Amino acid sequence: MKVVITGGAGFLGKKLARRLLADGAIVGSSGKPEPITELVLFDVGHASGPGLDDARIRTQAGDIADAATVSALVRGAATVFHFAAVVSAGAEADFDLGYRVNLDGTRHVLEACRAGGACPRVVFTSSLAAYGGALPPAVSDDTPLTPQTSYGAQKSIGEFLVRDYTRKGYIRGTAVRLPTICVRTGLPNKAASTWASSILREPLTGRDVVCPVTGDTVMVVLSPRKTVDAFMRAHDLPADAFGPARALLLNGIRVTAKELEAAIGRHAGNRRTGRVEWQHDPAIQAICNGWPQGIDSAKARSLGFEVDRDLDEVVRHFIADDLDEQLKLVAA
Ligand SMILES: NC(=O)c1ccc[n+]([C@@H]2O[C@H](COP(=O)([O-])OP(=O)(O)OC[C@H]3O[C@@H](n4cnc5c(N)ncnc54)[C@H](O)[C@@H]3O)[C@@H](O)[C@H]2O)c1
Repeated sequence: MKVVITGGAGFLGKKLARRLLADGAIVGSSGKPEPITELVLFDVGHASGPGLDDARIRTQAGDIADAATVSALVRGAATVFHFAAVVSAGAEADFDLGYRVNLDGTRHVLEACRAGGACPRVVFTSSLAAYGGALPPAVSDDTPLTPQTSYGAQKSIGEFLVRDYTRKGYIRGTAVRLPTICVRTGLPNKAASTWASSILREPLTGRDVVCPVTGDTVMVVLSPRKTVDAFMRAHDLPADAFGPARALLLNGIRVTAKELEAAIGRHAGNRRTGRVEWQHDPAIQAICNGWPQGIDSAKARSLGFEVDRDLDEVVRHFIADDLDEQLKLVAA
């Protein structure tokens, strides 16, 4: 079967691609695991990196906001993981780009699925940015979506579109509402949350880092390992598992910027670590303050979606899975 990952050259796209290649199969239209014969990684540039040199992989460069490109991309796919996006601070900085990629791009993916007539599975990545304003101490399955940024609005609309296209029988869709995925590999991106990964990643690779928020700033995080597990589980669960909203809020663990900094020393070993410099950026602080300070999703727990045991486990997984590749990137 053909599987497409949009945003396939991005952080989570490549992590998921490696997992799909390793598993070799995913639930198909029969409701049972079927072999993956073609895995298309679609992005603005060609995806590359360790573990992606595989005969089943096809990389394609293009623009998700181009309807004709997306129509050809999705044709014949049994599953689409739709990850392509301009992330939070990027969508806030460039209003037109955010709507073009995050809204028009999502609509193109869904329309292409509808036109194909084969009711493919679609997993859409939403975000905690779908919440904002006056929030309870922890958002839960019943907390209404109240986005306060363009990115949050675009992700919320995406969730509603996934719900409606599913209701009409055009797709079998699920929106997975992610906390901040930490530790992110590669270079810092334009997400307002990027500091939560940089504060660990840069010092552990011997580099200094600037943290733009105060030490007591809270972030709810989930490791890439648990996130990829969640994508696979969300994809494979039966259509009615998520209820009428077709969306799932993933749990994470609550950490502060200071706790993240403190974890560096516990995992430094013999490495020479970089330093954290605190340089306040009111714009980033305001975005982060507007996000949920905790998550409590009974639905995710009852469906078997797991969180990391603690922050130390998150850091250990980063060191085991990604540190070598990150060191090579830094050295290049
Ligand atoms: N990583 C997180 O902490 C997090 C949290 C919540 C939600 N999400 C969502 O999960 C998804 C994946 O996140 P990620 O961390 O891998 O982000 P990422 O930025 O690494 O990947 C997104 C990819 O989308 C691609 N893209 C952007 N514009 C495009 C266009 N016009 N056409 C084609 N591709 C385009 C980018 O080049 C990038 O490779 C995104 O939708 C993101 O909004 C991520």
